[in-house]
Amino acid sequence: MVKTYLSYINGKWVKSSSGKTFGKINPATGQVIFHCQAGNGKDVNAAVEAAKAAFGKWKSFPPPEKGEILFMAAHILEKRKEELAVLLTKENGKNLEEARGEVQEAIDITKYVAGEGRRLLGETTTSELPDKFAMFVREPRGVVGVITPWNFPIAIPAWKIPAALVCGNTLVFKPSSDAPACGIELVRLLNEAGIPPGVLNLVTGSGAAVGEPLAKHKGIDHISFTGSTDVGTHLYVEGAKKLNSVELEMGGKNPQIVLKDADIDLAVDGALWGAFGTSGQRCTATSRIIVEKHVAKRFTEKFLKRVRRIKVGNGLGKGAVMGPIINAGQMTKILGYIDKGRKEGAKLLVGGHRLKDAEHKKGFFIAPTVFTGVTPGMTIAREEIFGPVVCIMEARDFEDAVRIANSVEYGLSWSIYTKDINKAMKAMRLAESGIVYINAPTIGAEVHLPFGGVKGTGNGGREAGTEAIKEFTGIKTVFIDYSGRLQRAQIDVD
Ligand code: UN1
Repeated sequence: MVKTYLSYINGKWVKSSSGKTFGKINPATGQVIFHCQAGNGKDVNAAVEAAKAAFGKWKSFPPPEKGEILFMAAHILEKRKEELAVLLTKENGKNLEEARGEVQEAIDITKYVAGEGRRLLGETTTSELPDKFAMFVREPRGVVGVITPWNFPIAIPAWKIPAALVCGNTLVFKPSSDAPACGIELVRLLNEAGIPPGVLNLVTGSGAAVGEPLAKHKGIDHISFTGSTDVGTHLYVEGAKKLNSVELEMGGKNPQIVLKDADIDLAVDGALWGAFGTSGQRCTATSRIIVEKHVAKRFTEKFLKRVRRIKVGNGLGKGAVMGPIINAGQMTKILGYIDKGRKEGAKLLVGGHRLKDAEHKKGFFIAPTVFTGVTPGMTIAREEIFGPVVCIMEARDFEDAVRIANSVEYGLSWSIYTKDINKAMKAMRLAESGIVYINAPTIGAEVHLPFGGVKGTGNGGREAGTEAIKEFTGIKTVFIDYSGRLQRAQIDVD
């Protein structure tokens, strides 16, 4: 008997009004590991109504007290770290070491925003008139819809939910159906820590049945979304129709540049982790390695040697560096890109196929794949693959490398390996990207700094760090005139 998770609406764990559930498969074994409620628009309605009703009281609850609840939640996360990491590996596939790191990321951000309960800073300033005081304060946006992906099933909900809560919003949360359990456990432990009924609601189910009515619901004031560019763009349009604010974190096509003066071994270490960590299923994954011609051969040889040694397998097993692809559909999509790469004339150096031996055949495993001879016009050099596929591209010099790096629609993460301080500084300025790494891989952002991208990656907002507070608050400007007389701005000012 596998477990059936419930949705959480108005302080109660409930079945969906659809009467239906869906099964979730472990991508490493192909086995159903639990069931979830197949939610629908009626469940979304109930959740939004609960969140609306809870808003007034939660808004006026002192933020430092909200922060205390979040510190307690972080404490519970710490106590449950190992158990949650195992659950994460089972539902998502990433290896246990990475899963532990991800739970740690959830702990870190929860603690960080808990402290924000004692800040939530506005600004005071001067007035152009005497005996008048001017300031702005931060206010919650209202009812927030949170829609999260499967590749970071606890860290990404944790980037969004605690920050939205500390700012005084109430929420309706829809985790990805491909990895919903960690999100459900996050909701459970936040409520255990003391979040009052109705404040944080959870509806599981498909994008069409739950995400869509959530985005369109008139009771929703703000949407926070991480996922594909197609879905995000659609949500933006739906949000615009209601004049909602919408925060989007979407795709990437992240480059790692390796200049001829770089520490090549260090650059190989970085490229391996950036391209094949989480099986390349990160929006920050390295998908293009742009190497200065002079060192391309040396870099490629060293890199390939290491790629061939990557152990692929069940993330719970010993020594598996790379786990499975999340589901059959994604696997087919990635294999389709590999096919296209070959057809468009790129040279496949290693990998390029599904693993079908006894150890792997029940899961969705793809061998780490490296293409060389990739040019900027090729599909595999432009589109997000979201899998263990990396393109090696040659550049004539620094300027050419920067031009290639910037030649895509996305702009999330960007890395350069060089010992030349001048080039590093120039690259930092020239990168068309929300995040830049010098001598470090494209993955591994820290929670107290803003996270997000430019161009096709997002719509200008940022998550994490102090920016998280900006996402989940609006601004109220306040003037206090204590002169006791009518003072007209711009007129009575001499
Ligand atoms: C994502 O890939 O969606 O910077 C998030 C990183 C992680 C988060 C990635 N801290 O790679």
